[in-house]
Amino acid sequence: MSEHVRVLLSEEMVDARIQAIGEEISRDYAGKQVHLICVLKGGSFFLCELAKRITVPVSLDFMSVSSYGSDTKSSGVVRIVKDLDESLKDKDVIVVEDIVDSGRTLSYLLEMLQDRGPASLRLCTLLDKPERRVKDVFVDYTGFEIPDEFVVGYGLDYNQKYRNLPYIGVVEFD
Ligand code: IMP
Ligand code: MG
Repeated sequence: MSEHVRVLLSEEMVDARIQAIGEEISRDYAGKQVHLICVLKGGSFFLCELAKRITVPVSLDFMSVSSYGSDTKSSGVVRIVKDLDESLKDKDVIVVEDIVDSGRTLSYLLEMLQDRGPASLRLCTLLDKPERRVKDVFVDYTGFEIPDEFVVGYGLDYNQKYRNLPYIGVVEFD
């Protein structure tokens, strides 16, 4: 069976939206420093593009989590594979994610990060699939709301493939 990727959000659309979110964050955090947390690996492309467009001082940290479950369905039980290097105490933190799907991973993660005493904690996601939500998660900054389709590109993978596509697409099987 062969597969191809149908473009859902073009590179130009994604770039323009990231620029707008960068400007919004720069306004909201005027006079402050933002501490961006990237959830690896999916969030990495979005984090880099977003960070470049934020005009207030930025610091970065990375974490990697794995949820027990199949590749396309998360269980909500999250294991920290790589923890943050730095404390969150008194920092203005924004978690940068590729996609909020069921919300299970993020609701667990945000609760855990909140316990580390940040001055503030917000969530920024490139994509949101609201139809799929099982756990309530408040998203502060959303790139695009998308329908319930499995998407790839801009950091998102299908079996570790397609992360490097500069646009968001849907995998289709011929
Ligand atoms: P949640 O806990 O169900 O919200 O799962 C979120 C994680 O599942 C994301 O960070 C992605 O790694 C993965 N995921 C969910 N939907 C997609 C998709 O459409 N394409 C690729 N990965 C996805
Ligand atoms: Mg992810």
